[in-house]
This record gives sequence, C-alpha cells and structure tokens, in this order.
Amino acid sequence: MSLLLNRNTFGDPANTGKVLTRPEAENLFSSWVINPRLQLHMKQVAHLMKCWAAEKENINEADQWRWEMAGLLHDADWDQWPDQHCKKIIEELESRNIDPEILHAIASHGPLHFGVEPETKMDKMLYAFDELSGLAHAYALMRPNNYEGMDVKGVKKRLKEKSFAANVSREDIDDACKRAGILLDDLIAFIIPRQAVVK
Ligand SMILES: [Fe+2]
Repeated sequence: MSLLLNRNTFGDPANTGKVLTRPEAENLFSSWVINPRLQLHMKQVAHLMKCWAAEKENINEADQWRWEMAGLLHDADWDQWPDQHCKKIIEELESRNIDPEILHAIASHGPLHFGVEPETKMDKMLYAFDELSGLAHAYALMRPNNYEGMDVKGVKKRLKEKSFAANVSREDIDDACKRAGILLDDLIAFIIPRQAVVK
C-alpha cells in the first residue's frame, strides 16, 4: 500500500488565509475520528502547534488557529480510511477552499510516507511534533503519576528502547529535528509541560 500523494501543490493560493471556524473543524474532527486515543493525539498535536506559534513564532491569535487547525486535522482520515491517509482530508479541505499552507502542512507531516517535503515552519513543526508527542504520551501512560515529574532524560531513554512504543518512528523523529533545526532535548522539553494539560 502506498500513501504517496504524487503531487506537491495543494489548494488554491487565492484561498490563502481561509480557515474553518473552530466549530466547523471540531465537527469534522468528531465525525471522522472515532478512536478516543487518536482524538487525544490530534488534540495534543494541535495544542503543541498553537503553543509553538504563539511562543516561538510570535504569531498573532488569528494565525495561531491556522497552526492549531493543521494539528487538529492532520490525522483526520487515519481512523476510517487508513489506505487514503492524508489524501482524503486534503481533498476535503480543498473542497472547502482552505488555506494552501494548512493543506501543505498536513501533506508533508510524513515526508518518508507521503513524498511531500516539509517547507514552511508550520510544515516542519507539525512533522516534528507528531511522532515525538506520541512517544511522550505512551511514556506518560506507563508512569504512576502520568506527566508529573517527567523529564527529558526519561523520554530520551524510552526513545532509545526500540521495543517501547515500537510503532513510533525514531527515523522520523531524527529527520524532523534536523529539518526543523531543533535539538531533540529542546523539543522534548517544550512538549512535556504543554502536552500535559491536554485532556
Ligand atoms: Fe499524527
């Protein structure tokens, strides 16, 4: 099964800045994504994207939602249409005339799988948060106090254990950090306290 998208441009530049409203996005999210674990993962990534936009990129509140929306919907088709992963949600958002930057971020969140290179900072951060967020959460689930007291060292130790959360691609994490120009330690330190508040 190939998930290659076989194209590099998404959406129409005339739709730059166009977004779903929060209720529209939440409606799409809850009608397409049934698995509560996947829902939580997508909410966590959405929150990390919003925090990064606000804290590191100094992006205004309206634009923070574009980052958050990319995170919230990046895996929207994974639950019900895994063989059309990325393709289906992109086509849905294209039909709703959504900002091409959001579409490109979703399309490039797994360059090794979808064949689309992350280009913008939004692209790169979505790719960087995706797998590492999943690993940090798997670690939280096995800790007695969840995220409380979790540190960078502990997450890195789990990362080195290949059998821990084996479905999390270590290759993607390395590749994503390099592309984003962020040290693994810094990214983990950013994720832990912010992800901890997402329920
Ligand atoms: Fe994801």
